[in-house]
Amino acid sequence: MFISFEGIEGAGKSTAQRLVADFLQARGHDPLLTREPGGCSLGRNLRSILLDARLSRLSGRAELYLFLADRAQHVAEVIRPALDAGQTVLCDRFTDSTLAYQGYGRGLDTEYLRNANETATGGLTPELTLLLDLPVADGLSRAGRRNREEGTVISEGRFDSESLDFHERVRRGYLALADEEPQRFAVIDATEPPEDVAMQCLSAVEAALGRRGRGLE
Ligand code: TYD
Repeated sequence: MFISFEGIEGAGKSTAQRLVADFLQARGHDPLLTREPGGCSLGRNLRSILLDARLSRLSGRAELYLFLADRAQHVAEVIRPALDAGQTVLCDRFTDSTLAYQGYGRGLDTEYLRNANETATGGLTPELTLLLDLPVADGLSRAGRRNREEGTVISEGRFDSESLDFHERVRRGYLALADEEPQRFAVIDATEPPEDVAMQCLSAVEAALGRRGRGLE
């Protein structure tokens, strides 16, 4: 089973990923936690280029192809082999990040991006996508706090320094994607207290496991 975690900066994706991993482990699964960008060795090198604030003059298309190169290698080297070996893969960001950030955020054509994602992944789609949704101002202030705690200057992110409007477009884009594919997406209200966010995530995972068990996917 392949589960992705999506959302704007500071939405709590990596906390949700760890929570789901613990839940699955307790039920005898063998989850693999990974992320984009940077889930494979090529990606770790690309990550420093992609996320380097000083390279903010990178063109939108050049940026896109770096994310796609990372994804193609990550699928081939990490995700596919793990799925073939029967592991459950939990990926922090995947194809929907490209649609939300490069599509809705940067304004690249979403149909073009869908085809590009398809080429990069060989058609691999998550069975479940947990979209952690919260207002942009909340997400950015959480991300800012985390960066200060970790001593990172404006995160490693080129995206933290984007306008509020950019992040609003990304958030709205994610919600539009979720509307288009309600059977794959579970929209999690990340403004709720942590226990409630956890409950929402785990019940979505249980429902997906149930559908799988009944052979509906
Ligand atoms: P990262 O530091 O991993 O942020 P986060 O903790 O929010 O995941 O930075 C990843 C950044 O890259 C994030 O701002 C989203 C962006 N991104 C894209 O624009 N397109 C993509 O396809 C992916 C995978 C990420």
